[in-house]
Amino acid sequence: MSGTTIAVIGAGQMGSGIAQVFAQAGFPVILYDVAQQQLDKAMGGIRSSMEKLVAKGKMTTADALASAARLKTTGRVEDCAAADFLIEAVPEQFALKKTIFETFDHALAPKAIIASNTSSIAIGKLGAVTKRPAQVIGMHFMNPVPLMPCVEVIRSDATNDSTFQATRALIERLGKTMVVAKDRPGFIVNRILAPMLNEAAYALQEGLATREDIDTAMKLSCNFPMGPLTLADFVGLDTLVSILEVMEREIGDPKFRPAPVLKEFVAKGWLGRKSGKGFYTY
Ligand SMILES: NC(=O)c1ccc[n+]([C@@H]2O[C@H](COP(=O)([O-])OP(=O)(O)OC[C@H]3O[C@@H](n4cnc5c(N)ncnc54)[C@H](O)[C@@H]3O)[C@@H](O)[C@H]2O)c1
Repeated sequence: MSGTTIAVIGAGQMGSGIAQVFAQAGFPVILYDVAQQQLDKAMGGIRSSMEKLVAKGKMTTADALASAARLKTTGRVEDCAAADFLIEAVPEQFALKKTIFETFDHALAPKAIIASNTSSIAIGKLGAVTKRPAQVIGMHFMNPVPLMPCVEVIRSDATNDSTFQATRALIERLGKTMVVAKDRPGFIVNRILAPMLNEAAYALQEGLATREDIDTAMKLSCNFPMGPLTLADFVGLDTLVSILEVMEREIGDPKFRPAPVLKEFVAKGWLGRKSGKGFYTY
């Protein structure tokens, strides 16, 4: 299976982490993005992440060099054509993901599997834009991918057993734990997490407490590793707004309406950690 070539589409926070863990697990990886700057940033981030793993004794220098050598970057669709398994990690917008699914459905061999790292968009809807809906699956990694042990897997009504088994086998090879969710907006993790992060934003907006106290209260009272506003910055405020909007629309419950402060920050370009500013400044 280590001969399985992986293509990762979108070299942002998630795509770069996904590419890294597959390369470290011995797979040849092609990382594709429309922005060369993102590909350069991703490779820089992957190298420094591996250096940290080496410094902590979790990886040898030889393994880091071999892993980096298995990773290629590209801005050309044709370079991904040989992939057996593709994971899409572009921004959380259906129209954009639809274009990616159509493009790569056309470019890849008929037997290849297409997975989406979407946080909230229905896998059945993405599969339906391809000629291979049985080979389309949700593979939702957590951020930061190299450190987080869980992957949520989502089958649509059309996803076949061999696609599911191939996905399960890859997750095992990564040494991660799989959980399975139905194809409903937000799946397990964001169905529960996104409303909580949104509520923290509403609380801040209403002046319930300072951002520091909201975060400290949840960290120390609920034993969370970080507060919800810090976590929202980590996720990306644009991504969080998109997830909430999908859930509000598809589940039809106004409780998922994004807090106005989130939308205001996104409009200003304050996207969280990735843009250097969100609830906090980085
Ligand atoms: N951020 C999180 O914590 C998190 C966690 C799990 C899943 N996700 C999901 O992963 C996906 C990506 O999120 P992210 O946080 O990595 O976003 P991001 O904004 O960090 O990265 C998105 C990348 O996609 C690239 N891109 C945009 N248009 C493209 C195109 N047409 N072709 C190829 N690449 C293109 C961008 O240049 C960018 O590098 C989203 O669906 C999101 O919901 C995010």
